[in-house]
Amino acid sequence: KAVTGRKWTAVGDLDGSFKDREVLVRGRVQTSRAVGKNIAFLVVREMGFTVQCVVTVAPELVSRLMVKFATGLSRESHVDVEGIVSVPGEPIKGASQQVEVHVRKVYCISKAVPNLPINIEDAARSEAEFERASEAGEQLVRVNQDTRLTYRVLDLRTPANQAIFRVRFQIENFFRQFLISEGFVGIHTPKLMAGSSEGGAAVFRLDYKGTPACLAQSPQLHKQMAINGDFGRVFEIGPVFRAEDSNTHRHLCEFIGLDAEMEIKEHYSEVMDVVDRLFVAIFDSLNENCQKELQAIRKQYPFEPLKYLRRTLRLNFQEGVQMLKEAGIEVDPLGDLNTETERKLGQLVLKKYNTEFYILHRYPLAVRPFYTMPCFDDPAYSNSFDVFIRGEEIISGAQRVHDPEILTTRAEACGIKVDTIGPYIDSFRYGAPPHGGFGVGLERVVMLFCDLNNIRKTSLYPRDPQRITP
Ligand code: 4AD
Repeated sequence: KAVTGRKWTAVGDLDGSFKDREVLVRGRVQTSRAVGKNIAFLVVREMGFTVQCVVTVAPELVSRLMVKFATGLSRESHVDVEGIVSVPGEPIKGASQQVEVHVRKVYCISKAVPNLPINIEDAARSEAEFERASEAGEQLVRVNQDTRLTYRVLDLRTPANQAIFRVRFQIENFFRQFLISEGFVGIHTPKLMAGSSEGGAAVFRLDYKGTPACLAQSPQLHKQMAINGDFGRVFEIGPVFRAEDSNTHRHLCEFIGLDAEMEIKEHYSEVMDVVDRLFVAIFDSLNENCQKELQAIRKQYPFEPLKYLRRTLRLNFQEGVQMLKEAGIEVDPLGDLNTETERKLGQLVLKKYNTEFYILHRYPLAVRPFYTMPCFDDPAYSNSFDVFIRGEEIISGAQRVHDPEILTTRAEACGIKVDTIGPYIDSFRYGAPPHGGFGVGLERVVMLFCDLNNIRKTSLYPRDPQRITP
């Protein structure tokens, strides 16, 4: 078709300032209904925003045929609507924009099939709406998580989902911007590896042209090697693969890792300082720049704003164990915390320190990966930390062992086949600085900042033990 130079206005931009102006919008038909033979109401949606469009028969301008055509448009069809903006005196229910478009022309760009597996209006309802409706004796259709994920392309069209993925992108973007401003260099490490980087059973094995190989469980080894390659400070944003066995609300088989690694000049607390500044900046930026998105998420999934301090609380692991003990919960001081005790500790920290974001450090060495540096004063503990939002882990980090002999011994003790990580160990033989870093699960940050109940809500096309499509 010839290029006409016509200008489209975004549905989300439509407000009173467009009063009496002619606009052209493109979007999807959320609903269409007729009132008699002379009027049709269309609700048109674009990227989570909706506007009511009124098609009324008018001599010379709008025919009955056009009203009939508008009424017959199937839900989710893509349309162009041309019309004049008006501002009604009453609030408009069922549309986000508080203006109406009085339609002159409507064109169907692409027709959607009539019986869609998900109705977006139903998929966008909050739990409270379902409760209100059922009390009023109304029958609304609940869209379950599995159906949502199977028909993800439709599910993504709800205002909350549109907002979740914009918030997610902002977190990724702030992470990158902040680390660049602190002198970190962005890198990309291989995702096909000869051996596992984290150990354990959660490894996807594959055949690499006749050689056993696996998908990277993290950029851990290669980001450390980049430090040995003299980059000083590096970060990576990339996919991470874990062959998780358990079906939980917070584990995926593929997620996006936000990783950083840096030389340490004096003390591993320098790494925690970066985490502290980075996350306070991320949360501040979300609160400052993403209010529209956070509101859209809250409308379907209500949540309280995250409580965090200007300087992030650092709690010693032993102090955490003591706090749990005082609350009547015994945990092994040389063991790990489980999901339940982590959550409980989160509640105790909130009560005592009024924060839902904190760092727990000096973990027992026995529960940390082989590359973790033991504490100098007590090798039963380590220079390592986890970071929590609302009682759930989003980050783990540590100082690393930079002595090749100790590293070899530790790898062997942890059951890692040392011959598969030979070049990594060797890289410490050519002179290696003290260094440390951390890894963040992007989906976990989104889930916990917005207090969502399932990590799958924060992944476009989640991969879990049951799902490898769409
Ligand atoms: O705790 P993890 O396994 O640590 C590492 O990968 C280290 N190499 C990081 C480091 O630099 N020391 O993973 C880091 C983060 C976790 O805190 C969690 O947020 C997330 O990655 N994560 C997962 N997210 C979703 N699904 C899974 N199966 C995850 N496993 C870990």
